Amino acid sequence: MYSNTADRGTITWQSPSNIALVKYWGKQGNQLPCNPSLSMTLNASYTTTSFSYVKRKSGREAALQFLFAGARNESFEKRITAYLNSLLIDYPFLAAYDLTIDSANTFPHSSGIASSAASFSALALCVVSLKQMIEGKQGESSFFREASQLARLGSGSACRSVYGGYSVWGSVDDVPGYSNEYAVPLISEIHPVFRSFYDTILIVSAEKKKVGSSTGHVLMEQHPFARQRFRQANVHTTELIGVLKAGDLDRYIEIVENEALTLHSLMMSSTPGFILMKKETVEIIEKIREFRKTENVPVAFTLDAGPNVHVLYPASHRKEVMKFIKDALEERCTEGHWIDDSLGTGPKQLKG
Ligand code: DP6
Repeated sequence: MYSNTADRGTITWQSPSNIALVKYWGKQGNQLPCNPSLSMTLNASYTTTSFSYVKRKSGREAALQFLFAGARNESFEKRITAYLNSLLIDYPFLAAYDLTIDSANTFPHSSGIASSAASFSALALCVVSLKQMIEGKQGESSFFREASQLARLGSGSACRSVYGGYSVWGSVDDVPGYSNEYAVPLISEIHPVFRSFYDTILIVSAEKKKVGSSTGHVLMEQHPFARQRFRQANVHTTELIGVLKAGDLDRYIEIVENEALTLHSLMMSSTPGFILMKKETVEIIEKIREFRKTENVPVAFTLDAGPNVHVLYPASHRKEVMKFIKDALEERCTEGHWIDDSLGTGPKQLKG
């Protein structure tokens, strides 16, 4: 059987996307967050990245070909090359190989799902695996911590995708154990009600967003409500960790929905302000709130930096919520499109 050596081989990681429950919005320094965030790792929406390396005479820069779903993609190639070059001080071996990186997503690129979180998580896991191949094995928790840190340098939210379950990224006021440099998994003591949880993602629009996350983060630098927002995210993170442990669905719904609407109100009140919600986004939110009240079903919504709605609910209410989605929400999705996702167990190494 062919196996990897330090001279040549292929490392493959599959990494999921994640959805933030407490939002990262605003950054400083070298990809460090202005506030802590807390996310749920997904299951069905993931990227698979194969990282092939063949030893060459060491150069000054990384040499790579980037394929997306089997086809050369030059714009991604430029971004990934710049990313790998930015790592050379700590990972000089990246310039000592000819690299071929082949990446594919389970979800459509234009579906509005944060593909950068899954992609940079998968890529960072490949880079740290190659480092282990060259320098020898490290402990599991230090392996994932390093991958989280590297993923963060590619895209902030990606650092939370290297763990399954729930993750916290960013230091939390008065609570030790969390860091701006990497995410930390919240494995211990999650209440059973939050261990089997669904996220049905309603695709309201698959068009490219008018304003990307990077611009949104920059606009927080001059935002009149920034200080208060960063404080609120600290309070929400601390409280949500407690809620996930206690199994408090009512408070979960309040915090998660408030975070989603706060994120979008920060966008609207930036200078310049912008609106990413569509008419259908607002209609779906109203419908969810009405359904929750009249049927007494614990279902919440959250939003990413876009118009699509994530519908969050425990497995015990799967049947009623799916019926509600098909009866009342599907017609508001573009081409009736939604993605059935759920809490995932985190990245998997497939090869190498
Ligand atoms: C609204 O992680 O995409 O999804 O660090 O510039 O790559 P960069 O930003 P990115 O921002 C994500 C913003 C968000 C909230 C979140 O995932 O926490």
